Amino acid sequence: MDYPEFASPVVSKLPEEGIITCTSPSNIALVKYWGKRPIQLPQNASISFTLDSCKTTTSLTYKKQGGIKEDFDFNLFFEGEPKPDFKPKIRSFFERIQEYLPLLNQYTFTIETSNTFPHSSGIASSASGMSALAYCLMQLEKKINPDISNSEYLQKSSFLARLGSGSACRSIEGPVTVWGEHPDINGSSDAYAIPFPFPVHQNFDEYQDTILLIDKGEKQVSSTVGHNLMYDHPFAAKRFEQATANVSKLKEILISGDLDAFIQVVESEALTLHAMMMTSLPYFILMKPNTLSVIHKIWEYRETTGSKVCFTLDAGANVHVLYPNTEKNQVLDFIINELVAYCQNGQYICDKIGLGAKIV
Ligand code: DP6
Repeated sequence: MDYPEFASPVVSKLPEEGIITCTSPSNIALVKYWGKRPIQLPQNASISFTLDSCKTTTSLTYKKQGGIKEDFDFNLFFEGEPKPDFKPKIRSFFERIQEYLPLLNQYTFTIETSNTFPHSSGIASSASGMSALAYCLMQLEKKINPDISNSEYLQKSSFLARLGSGSACRSIEGPVTVWGEHPDINGSSDAYAIPFPFPVHQNFDEYQDTILLIDKGEKQVSSTVGHNLMYDHPFAAKRFEQATANVSKLKEILISGDLDAFIQVVESEALTLHAMMMTSLPYFILMKPNTLSVIHKIWEYRETTGSKVCFTLDAGANVHVLYPNTEKNQVLDFIINELVAYCQNGQYICDKIGLGAKIV
């Protein structure tokens, strides 16, 4: 066991049956995680805003079995329908976390999950989905280990979520989280995310994220494949260094509230992420023509109005438009009048910075 601090206590009596429901949001990275090493450890530290309304709700029904089974016993429903094609991902998640949660093969589970955002909208459903499931499983563990402290509980939830999907570990808490060991961030770890351990400037209170759904098609290249292409990438070492330096810069920016500096780091990170995709072998492009049109419109709007709006991207064509709450009305007008035309079927989602996973 690599992380004995996350071992489960040995107990003689397990709860018989019940149901646990929780929600967990998506998150948007400001400094990106792109490149990992086994098992699910990041090549550089990343920082994200936890979102508020883009979230997954997961209900975990558990029933104790007679004995210990060889295989995991679970059913999976997504928006009310059985989802056999999601099962291999959950099975491999269970395999990875079994040593930290030995109760897993002593239960029959039914996992029912739904998202507030459209599936395949390009919004990272693995972050909200895996963090919601990890959080539910930790609620079950809490029943056998009621003395676990809140911080241990959150840390282990994040630790388990990471083993499902790297970015998922940043969704357990909010409003700003850091994942990956970094010399300037006390308490940071490759194994789990922590809340940003400094006061965040009020300029970021209620910070807005409007997600423009530019292209809702299935991604041609999954994040997992993209991460793996960083292994032999000619610019990998420099990129990891740059991300480390950007975490240091962003730390100061989040404390000082310097929005011009924020824009520079965040947009550079987004474009660098896509530059890594374009310069890997095989190379690929996830942006669409409308992604670029939107970026140019944002730059033009900023130039003419002095607004502090900026954009970031994740591994897809959609654009996250980030802006201070104080500019909410003006920027939303701009989005509706000038950007929605570039969205597929005019679709966009208004979200903002949020607080992480919750029991329902
Ligand atoms: C571009 O967390 O989806 O969104 O660990 O393989 O599940 P896996 O990858 P994932 O990668 C997210 C990449 C990103 C950047 C980020 O969220 O930091």
